[in-house]
Amino acid sequence: MPASPVPPSVVAELQRQFNHELAAAHGYQALSVWCTAHNLTGFAAFFEKQSGEERTHAKKIIDHLIDRSVDPVLGAVPQPKQDFRSLLDVAQYAEVMEQANTKGINAVFEAALAAKDYPAQVLMHWFINEQVEEEAWCAELIDRVRSASCAGSLSDLDRHVVRIFSDEKD
Ligand SMILES: [Fe+2]
Ligand SMILES: [Fe+2]
Repeated sequence: MPASPVPPSVVAELQRQFNHELAAAHGYQALSVWCTAHNLTGFAAFFEKQSGEERTHAKKIIDHLIDRSVDPVLGAVPQPKQDFRSLLDVAQYAEVMEQANTKGINAVFEAALAAKDYPAQVLMHWFINEQVEEEAWCAELIDRVRSASCAGSLSDLDRHVVRIFSDEKD
């Protein structure tokens, strides 16, 4: 039996959102590049890891579409922001990206609710939870970067940032 069709409004939102996740992956890659260029190798590794996670988010939505007989359409990935003034600026931009992503997830969920599309609603439950975590670590990262006022405390944070945040995220 063919799978029940995905409402067009939900297809449009899911397509938009997985492309948004790919743009976020590219955005985090840019943060990683900035950190590498500024000798912050710990932060570079942390953002590289985030970039990979955004790709897995895109893949979750892509797989959902394919399972429901919709061909995912990949769009062009926009050029990410790279002109940061400081590590604090970088951390604040990560938060801006995550807040934008939360808006995107909510828009998918609202479309799925309106169309009574239960599978997409359940898929979005995972993403809604994930965004709570993502916004939480962003806020903590900003706090920690702000508190690392001297060069010594900043290099200490750089050395431990991957461990600090992977303990909390797992
Ligand atoms: Fe994501
Ligand atoms: Fe994210």
